[in-house]
Amino acid sequence: MSDTDRQPSRTRVPMPVAAMSDPHMGDAARHPARVEKLIVLVFVLAIVFIALFGAAYWQNWSDWILGGTIGAGLLLLGFGLTAWGKYLMPQGPFVEDRHPLASTPEERDAMSAALVERSAVVVKRRKMLGGLFATGAGIFGIVAIFPLLRSLGPVPGTSLDVTGWRRGMVLVDSDGRPVTRDTLVPGGIMTVYPRDTVIVNAGPQPLITDQGQAIDQTVLIRISDQDYTTQPGRETWGPAGYIAYSKLCTHLGCPVGLYEQLLELLVCPCHQSMFNVRNGAVPEFGPAPRPLPQLALMFNQDGHLAAQAPYDQPVGPGFWERS
Ligand code: FES
Repeated sequence: MSDTDRQPSRTRVPMPVAAMSDPHMGDAARHPARVEKLIVLVFVLAIVFIALFGAAYWQNWSDWILGGTIGAGLLLLGFGLTAWGKYLMPQGPFVEDRHPLASTPEERDAMSAALVERSAVVVKRRKMLGGLFATGAGIFGIVAIFPLLRSLGPVPGTSLDVTGWRRGMVLVDSDGRPVTRDTLVPGGIMTVYPRDTVIVNAGPQPLITDQGQAIDQTVLIRISDQDYTTQPGRETWGPAGYIAYSKLCTHLGCPVGLYEQLLELLVCPCHQSMFNVRNGAVPEFGPAPRPLPQLALMFNQDGHLAAQAPYDQPVGPGFWERS
């Protein structure tokens, strides 16, 4: 018996559509001709205003004329369209009957019989393929766990708590040049690294191959030409107006590389946290929960800017504050 033979017969009666003589198909307006004239007038005015806008734009007239003409043109167009839909279109309401959607008992029986019959054939004939597929899927499920476990990686230990900065380490720029008193003028900013992490070859043209770890990156700002104190207890940290903060945002660790010089704010580009450089990089806006750690600076006997000590707290997001 073919599938077509199994289909129970069902008479489909086409649903009637609304006849044009149906009173609901008429215009909503009591005087359609008058409304039509009014809408024509509105559309003509809209065209005039839009054309005026084009002329104003071409002639570079004032913003007031540009805004006024395009505003009036669009307003009139919208008004005309709304009036057209509201007064000159059939208003209904229209109700469309539907055929019942539920299957008949005969249709349901036929579907059940077909499913039972076909599944028996498929499973019987493909027993080996089915077994292999189940084995493959099971092994895949187990193997898929491996990368997950391996990606957890080794335990970081204290590597996130300490940076490469130590007492006496000279601040260098990205070319390995030490920072001196005249490197920046007041208002200037640069990124610096601890010199001892830079690997330099022995030739006449030293080649810098490594600038230390990401957590070593530090923003150096010259805020004035006098010694500067950002917080009580940091009276010696800002010689000659140089102050240095960790470049790792305390929110999620993005590099805080933007400097709003007029407002003296360091800005994180990721979620717009803003840190006030004058008072210890306290966050003034955004999701960063704590200030950027400050690096205590000094000038060494060679006149190079150097760290007085390591950072006094871990840099970056405050994972270490969670107990
Ligand atoms: S990472 Fe800096 S604000 Fe989010």
